[in-house]
Amino acid sequence: MPEILVTENITGDAMDQLHKEMDVSFEPDLWSDPEKLKEAVKGVNALIVRNQTQVTEEIIAAADDLQIIARAGAGLDNIDTKAAEAAGIVVSFTPQANSVSVAELAIGLMISLTRQIPAADWDTRAGGWNRQIFTGGELSGKTLGVVGFGRIGVLTATRAKVFGMTIIGHDDYVDPESPHVKELDAKMLSLDELLAKADFITCHVPLTDGTREMFNAELFGKMKEGAFFINTSRGEVVDENALARALQNDQIGGAALDVRQVEPPDASSPLNGLTNVILTPHIAAFTDEAQSRVVDAVCRDVQAVLKGESATDYFNFAKPRR
Ligand code: MLT
Repeated sequence: MPEILVTENITGDAMDQLHKEMDVSFEPDLWSDPEKLKEAVKGVNALIVRNQTQVTEEIIAAADDLQIIARAGAGLDNIDTKAAEAAGIVVSFTPQANSVSVAELAIGLMISLTRQIPAADWDTRAGGWNRQIFTGGELSGKTLGVVGFGRIGVLTATRAKVFGMTIIGHDDYVDPESPHVKELDAKMLSLDELLAKADFITCHVPLTDGTREMFNAELFGKMKEGAFFINTSRGEVVDENALARALQNDQIGGAALDVRQVEPPDASSPLNGLTNVILTPHIAAFTDEAQSRVVDAVCRDVQAVLKGESATDYFNFAKPRR
């Protein structure tokens, strides 16, 4: 029977079923011990991970019988996809399963920022009744800049459109004439143009060498005064010290980060002391609905690939050699 190794806390009905049908080792803490992981992947046919397991070239080299690395989620930055492809290992992921949840959190954070919902809540609990302080603004009539106009960016823009926002986008890989751009009546701009125009900037780029710390002091300096910045993609795309300075100097109006440069973040982060910041612990994709779809999808993909069939969404197109 094929051996399946799960190295993070990935559970649900579909996983229970997989346990019944296949030889599944559930090791939810294994991601934190790379040496132990290197040993554990030997002889394993399928590896199921979320975002904490670093599936490096070394791990892939040690995995002598691996057919599929199934990523329960959308980002592939924790997997050396090139090494997997070279080894003939399929890398599947589940971008369709959790995108709506991420887009909904991005909208929630936009409203929370402009209406100061967390601060109003703390103040009221502390006995305040400060209606004149917590005035805020509307999304309606404002411009949303979507950096990264892929699936999640488009879902966020679609929801923002319903609130009466004007959509502008930046994405080097998206044709400005493509139907989803047209349907949203969106304009694709250079990054500098977008930063100069947007009242809200929502970031949906993957983490690559090109996007690492792309939101730095220079980019924050190019944003409109009072702009709100929202990041639900990857923390490493933001230079957090530069963001803290931009917020301290009132260069921008506020920021909401669901993802951090280091997760979990250092308790001494300068962002912790700022009132115009909302911080959440990488929960964008962690709704019940999304997680159930994600687990269904990884289990389905693992079973398919182990039977010699194709995964639904996969990164590498090389015909598996194993
Ligand atoms: C994703 O990439 O799917 C989300 O950020 C959640 C996760 O990393 O598991």
